[in-house]
Amino acid sequence: MDYLKITEEYIISKGITPEAETRGLLVYSQDIKNGDCCLPCFKLSKAMRMSPVMISDKLRDGMTDLPSHIQRVESVNGYLNFYFDRKAMAKEVLGVMLAKGDKFEPMEPNGKTVCIDYSSINIAKPFHIGHLSSTVIGGSLHRIFRYLGYSAVGINHLGDWGTQFGKLLTAYFKWGKGEQTMDSLLELYVRFHKEAEQDDSLNDEARMWFKKIEDKDEKATAAYEEFKRITLEEVTKVYDRLGIKFDSYNGEAFFNDKMQPVVDELKSKNLLTPSDGAMIVSLDEYDMPPCLILRSDGASLYATRDLACAFYRKNTYNFDKNLYVVAYQQNLHFKQVFKVLELMGHEWAKDCVHVPFGMVSIEGGGSLSTRSGNVVKLVDVINTAVEKTKAIIADKNPELENADETAEAIGVGAVVFGALSSSRIKDIVFSLDKALNFDGETGPYLQYTHARCCSVLSKAQPSGEVDYSQLTDDDTFALVRRLNAFDDTVRIVADRYEPSILTRYLIDLAQEFNKFYIAHRIISDDKDATNARLWITRAVKNTLKNGMELILLKAPEKM
Ligand code: ARG
Repeated sequence: MDYLKITEEYIISKGITPEAETRGLLVYSQDIKNGDCCLPCFKLSKAMRMSPVMISDKLRDGMTDLPSHIQRVESVNGYLNFYFDRKAMAKEVLGVMLAKGDKFEPMEPNGKTVCIDYSSINIAKPFHIGHLSSTVIGGSLHRIFRYLGYSAVGINHLGDWGTQFGKLLTAYFKWGKGEQTMDSLLELYVRFHKEAEQDDSLNDEARMWFKKIEDKDEKATAAYEEFKRITLEEVTKVYDRLGIKFDSYNGEAFFNDKMQPVVDELKSKNLLTPSDGAMIVSLDEYDMPPCLILRSDGASLYATRDLACAFYRKNTYNFDKNLYVVAYQQNLHFKQVFKVLELMGHEWAKDCVHVPFGMVSIEGGGSLSTRSGNVVKLVDVINTAVEKTKAIIADKNPELENADETAEAIGVGAVVFGALSSSRIKDIVFSLDKALNFDGETGPYLQYTHARCCSVLSKAQPSGEVDYSQLTDDDTFALVRRLNAFDDTVRIVADRYEPSILTRYLIDLAQEFNKFYIAHRIISDDKDATNARLWITRAVKNTLKNGMELILLKAPEKM
């Protein structure tokens, strides 16, 4: 039950304050000692021409018929504080949580489809730290939408087309020896650029090779396909470790033969204008540079492919939402593409959403940079995190069984959590040591708290009737209130495409659990208290575990 919502409805039903200004003001109290939720009246002051103190007093005086879930209401310095019927709420919430069981099943299918374009790596380029955010934000949203009952389609829109492949082929046939790896491909690419500075004929050769790829020449295609295979093999290893999956790998090359209808439609709708031999859609009116559709040599562009791709997704999946989890550097690109779709008269253009995020860099990343290209590879970051975790485990808990598996879960989890936990749009400087701090606001802290719950439950299991009056003190009730907010929190994450709201929720839950754990002996001589506290521990454990799953974290039982 959404206790905030029904309390808000009650306040509005009084008709004392203006509805529009009142909605959205009610919040759960920061300090539960001041009631379970509160209405700060400051923002109402202007509309009502009254002081906040007078408004909250007036509201309190009007609340003579409290609904059953509210026990009392107090007016304190412009805040209206509500005290819930804690026993009744504990009963309701625990009932719901325990019915969800150990593994939370997805909600009833809602018949809606969301396409999510994420990770979208480039072939033959290193899978570097810059792809971390797209990969984990998209991967997490994929799980979150599925949990909420959507059909979610995860798409890796591969960067597998462009003149750079002509350059790579040139370098490969000139200098490439034997089996290639991602590193050797990068070296070839870097070498091409260096030598082409001295020798321009290399660029002509690169154009020739690219033409051969376009013409499906056997030798060119074989090499190009091989580069694709090598890249996918390498990134799949990382995806497996992160728990990332895709339903489609249709990338740029897939749309090679699907752009003509878009160009034709643009023409027939009089949107296409020639400009210096190229074809563009002018967006002057919308304060944007033009969207380039065809180059002067007739070649298509990134935007042309994305237009064809949007039509393909609409026709194939009939999406309700079409999300692109791509760095904010591409803000303009997506604004242009969506605008063109709108000008073409497609009403679903409004369902296409760019979900941007900031840049990630690594504190002290210099030591992790690759020799050529100066990029930090994601796999090196993950490996370093896992190695550091192994050292921590060897020091703190040398007896731990499955130490390697646990170190993998913690190390990977620390990196993933680090990328998800600040609000999307912020640039982040990632510190491995901070991400691995078991006492900080980190992935390992969540995992540690979950393992703590498991350890309690390995000593005793809850059973039978619950005495709900044992769950009404401040520390315990804070957990009840938090558990109740889980599904609503996940819905907000999906509305705002913002997994950091869920990471915050889980940290709050873990901190509240640890506070409860320190304040109370869970297992004691008091049978009723023990049983009730074990039930709440189980609900917290399940919520942490399932919540962590939605942000791609594993939850080892011991650590
Ligand atoms: N491969 C591109 C990059 O790494 C991202 C592609 C995003 N998806 C899209 N449909 N444009 O920058």
